[in-house]
Amino acid sequence: MMPDRPFWRSGVTLAIVAAFCTSLVALTWQLTADRIEENRKEWLERSLQPALAGLFFDSPVTESMITVPPPHELPGSDAAIIYRVYAGETPVAALFVVSARDGYAGPIRLLIGIALDGEVTGIRVLEHKETPGLGDKIDTSKSDWVLQFDGHSLRNPEPAKWAIKGDGGQFDQLTGASVTPRAVIRAIKQTLTYFDANQVAVFAEPPKLDEAQESD
Ligand SMILES: Cc1cc2nc3c(=O)[nH]c(=O)nc-3n(C[C@H](O)[C@H](O)[C@H](O)COP(=O)(O)O)c2cc1C
Repeated sequence: MMPDRPFWRSGVTLAIVAAFCTSLVALTWQLTADRIEENRKEWLERSLQPALAGLFFDSPVTESMITVPPPHELPGSDAAIIYRVYAGETPVAALFVVSARDGYAGPIRLLIGIALDGEVTGIRVLEHKETPGLGDKIDTSKSDWVLQFDGHSLRNPEPAKWAIKGDGGQFDQLTGASVTPRAVIRAIKQTLTYFDANQVAVFAEPPKLDEAQESD
């Protein structure tokens, strides 16, 4: 007959196996965390590029993010995100992530790129709940509607013309869906106005350069 294994020996074996597994998980996490963070930054950097058309810049946009907590004068009641864009140490543009609150079916999250001279460098819709076939044409996967703002500023056209044609403005509307474009245009105009009034404050805090750039 086999002698009974003492109870404490099974406990110790179990504890050793558990400790080994925990260490393995911790090690794997440590080895992959940096890579995951790098991939996330690369993905974010790529997603921001379409709003920076025709602009020369040479530092990672994601390193220069600031957040503007509410209450603020940008569209939306949540915190606004601003990515500052630099060529060397010279500011060249800012990318705003803001929410147009008055979409037909809910808030519309927008990425709005504005050059230092106040011209729109690109706009992309990041999130929306607008109706397929109607308001969803604000999305570049559905139509080019949002591209019509590229190169425009508060001087071109004048502020009063920042509206759809049906409201006496300069910009194309969407057939049977004017609530959505009104919301988007209002948000762009508000963001342009904010940048015009707050450029110094937006670039006041220097960007956080990573170690590689600092050692250059
Ligand atoms: C089911 C349904 C979904 C709609 N979705 C939208 C929409 O996503 N965006 C929008 O602007 N209007 C939408 N509308 C239309 C609006 O109610 C409104 O009639 C329209 O924006 C007015 O546009 P118009 O001045 O060009 O006629 C929707 C209407 C219905 C009945």
